[in-house]
Amino acid sequence: MSGRIPQSFIDEILNRVDIVEVIDARVPLKKAGREYQACCPFHNEKTPSFTVSPGKQFYHCFGCGAHGSAIGFLMDYEHLEFPEAIEELARSLGLEVPREAGAAKPAQRGERRDDHFSLLERADRFYRTQLREHAQAARAVDYLKNRGLSGEIAARFGLGYAPPGWDALLNHLGSDTHAQTLALELGLLVRRDDGRVYDRFRDRIMFPIRDRRGRTIGFGGRVLGDEKPKYMNSPESPVFHKGQELYGLFEARKANQKLERLLVVEGYMDVVALAQFGLSNAVATLGTATTPEHLERLYRVVHEVVFCFDGDAAGRRAAWRALENVLPIMRDGREARFLFLPEGEDPDSLIRRIGCEAFQKQTADSIPLSQFFFESLAQQVDTRSVDGRAHLVELARPLLQKLPDSVFRDLMLERLADLSGLGPEKLAQRLFGKREPTPTGAVKARPGESGRSPVRSAIRLLLEQPQLSRWVTPPTGFEDLELPGVGLLNELLEMLWHDPHLSAGHLLEHWRGKPEGQHLARLASLPLVIPETGYEKEFRDAIQRLVEQRTAQRTEQLLFKDRRQALSESEKSELKQLLAMRHPGPG
Ligand code: GTP
Ligand code: MN
Repeated sequence: MSGRIPQSFIDEILNRVDIVEVIDARVPLKKAGREYQACCPFHNEKTPSFTVSPGKQFYHCFGCGAHGSAIGFLMDYEHLEFPEAIEELARSLGLEVPREAGAAKPAQRGERRDDHFSLLERADRFYRTQLREHAQAARAVDYLKNRGLSGEIAARFGLGYAPPGWDALLNHLGSDTHAQTLALELGLLVRRDDGRVYDRFRDRIMFPIRDRRGRTIGFGGRVLGDEKPKYMNSPESPVFHKGQELYGLFEARKANQKLERLLVVEGYMDVVALAQFGLSNAVATLGTATTPEHLERLYRVVHEVVFCFDGDAAGRRAAWRALENVLPIMRDGREARFLFLPEGEDPDSLIRRIGCEAFQKQTADSIPLSQFFFESLAQQVDTRSVDGRAHLVELARPLLQKLPDSVFRDLMLERLADLSGLGPEKLAQRLFGKREPTPTGAVKARPGESGRSPVRSAIRLLLEQPQLSRWVTPPTGFEDLELPGVGLLNELLEMLWHDPHLSAGHLLEHWRGKPEGQHLARLASLPLVIPETGYEKEFRDAIQRLVEQRTAQRTEQLLFKDRRQALSESEKSELKQLLAMRHPGPG
């Protein structure tokens, strides 16, 4: 990676860019009151529920729950990674993206990265040429033909051949020591203990692994016969991270104008064979388990992911791991399904046997996440007994807690309610503790205000009208209040103290990828029930309630201490003041 983008530049972009312009250029918007509307680009609908707020610099769809800032919109709509979205916005503003110096000087790091890419490209070209020209190439070509692959598919995936012997690539790079160093860093060459250098990939079919832009970042290599190891992968390198990359994603996007669904399979050959038979939307992890990063990447491209696994016990275990990883990112509109293959088959052999259409039908009929989830759990308990049903709730609890607050989560709760016999409300309480916390010594919630905490209310209003922050001067004194969300409220007030014009979209970008960011986005999506003229009073009331709670909490603390040990002079006078505030005397 070249250097990080400085936060100050991201702030500048968010200050200068207008979300309405960004979205309108891609999804034409219609004005509706103070906001803009369109049919949601993230799910199918006939009446518009996709809303863009110029004030909040935030978009939100009431249909599928998609929401975010201008950056988030670009990432989701154009399938970009965060730095790419920043680059895109910078370009539209005519700005150059600066990079922070990392461990090395930025120029050096950038150059080195470019060098790595060009060396990989050289190796890639070399292996492909060898598949046509090497004296032994006929064996490799025969192997591919025997596996039913056409020249066209081999070309689409850039398949190549690493010749036998120890020094084919080494010789190809010649006496260029810089190239040799790079190839060693990339793991294409290996240095022996005695200092001699040799080719890592020998007499293997080569599968170039490409990044989202199509640049080769590493290779997988398969033997032609039964030798071991069957597959060999490039090691991790400055440009290759197995936990993030997916084999075939670039090719799948290139082959499809619009991708609806991606299939996650285990092997390189599965991806290539599926494409050969007309299914060009499969990707494979690189000999590792599916990571949360993989999943984020997939759902940035499609809304439906089907995981293919062997039907045996090991396959089910792997599927369960994928399920655990996918839960935290199952926001509304995203779908996950599981396809278990018949014993002894992999996608490659199955599609050969039953053909593309039948395979596609199996994919469409695959098991939804919810079904796999409850079937797997129900197998572990006896749902006919009270103990078994209680156990079921305990097993489900930590997993459902991972789900983001969503319609999907509500539906999962309802299903668990059905299975356990516990009402959905009781379950929600057990799982998410959905009760207003009543801190010791706190002022009791006023009638009509239960269910709306002052912290939540204050945050919600700041997202709507950041200038309200001028009613509070940090330090607020309620930093140490033991209430959920108080820390976040304080951070918001702190940021707005420096710049009272930061929009909701801008503020929540500061917590990108963190739970706070999700929480803020959710709050920003909630409609406000009070009219705009009431915002100020509501905000000041909320703050007033926090001050009162803080007064009560501090008073309790001091009274408690007073009973155990003596108070200092300053504490005594503080207590006196606090008590006076609590029971205002006459005059
Ligand atoms: P074919 O035998 O060519 O059909 O391959 P396959 O994809 O069916 O192979 P398999 O199911 O055995 O392996 C699936 C994936 O696991 C491969 O694509 C590799 O990424 C990885 N893999 C398999 N064998 C090895 C190995 O020996 N070493 C390493 N590092 N990875 C392997
Ligand atoms: Mn196979």
